Amino acid sequence: MAISVRPLHPLFCAEISGADTGSPMDDATFAEIRAAFEAYSVLIFRDQTLSDETQIAFSRRFGPLEVAGKANPATGTPFARQSNLDIRTGAVIPPEDRRMIYQKGNYLWHSDSSFKPVPSLCSLLSARIVPPEGGNTEFACMRAAYDALDDAMKAKLEGLVVEHSLVYSRGTISDVALTPEMKAELPGAWQTATRVNPVNGRKAIYAGAHASHVIGWPREEGRAAIAWLNEFSTQEKFRYSHAWRAGDLVIWDNRATLHRATAYDTVKHKRLMQRTTVGDSGPTVAQPERYELAAE
Ligand code: OGA
Ligand code: MN
Repeated sequence: MAISVRPLHPLFCAEISGADTGSPMDDATFAEIRAAFEAYSVLIFRDQTLSDETQIAFSRRFGPLEVAGKANPATGTPFARQSNLDIRTGAVIPPEDRRMIYQKGNYLWHSDSSFKPVPSLCSLLSARIVPPEGGNTEFACMRAAYDALDDAMKAKLEGLVVEHSLVYSRGTISDVALTPEMKAELPGAWQTATRVNPVNGRKAIYAGAHASHVIGWPREEGRAAIAWLNEFSTQEKFRYSHAWRAGDLVIWDNRATLHRATAYDTVKHKRLMQRTTVGDSGPTVAQPERYELAAE
């Protein structure tokens, strides 16, 4: 069965129809989806019927799945759970609870798992319960942002190495988002400042909220450069906002996009999203023996 691909934005993002991601899929159909993923960076599938098991099976077609760390309520499973509902009782978690403060980190533009030495290829987020208003996810096209840089800035990014850290990014929103046990699990990662798509050669800025500083530069100078890159690359013209319906599955390329959550009324409404995260084939750059922030 041939899928159909409908572009949703001049730069990236497409809606895929004619694919049932919750059922076993033949290789030819998957190859079309994979090609659309490389081309469009964000794929939206409506009216899917995914269970945890079928989401895992479909996600594995893209590559090996990450296992959630201690900071996520679904720790030890292939799921990063994004929800205001307690994983055991299903009750709404109060806004002042550490778990809700932790999730506020998703309001910052970021690339999933850029703080891991082997970063993520892509994430698959499936909407199980959706609030009646709010809670969109926004995406920014880092390829278009890269293309829009002037030649001097492009040259400056060549060879730059950036330390990423979840402890750093969560620290910018709150002191209590992570427990000492969670922090101990997250020493950080070094990443290149750009990533190249191996299929079509397109280059993308690689930064986001987890990017802390530039190796070999004065700390504040690197932070200012990263802040500028994040600001530049998330301009309105590079963005797409996805309004969720229950049953949506969205796949995004963490090599070529940033994304962020937007607010909803977490006291009045329920939201449950299940994310599987696919690892890339290796680190973007050699890793040090000790990360600079972890050594401080
Ligand atoms: C994620 C994420 C945004 C959202 O799942 O990685 O950032 O809107 N989610 O829940
Ligand atoms: Mn995310």
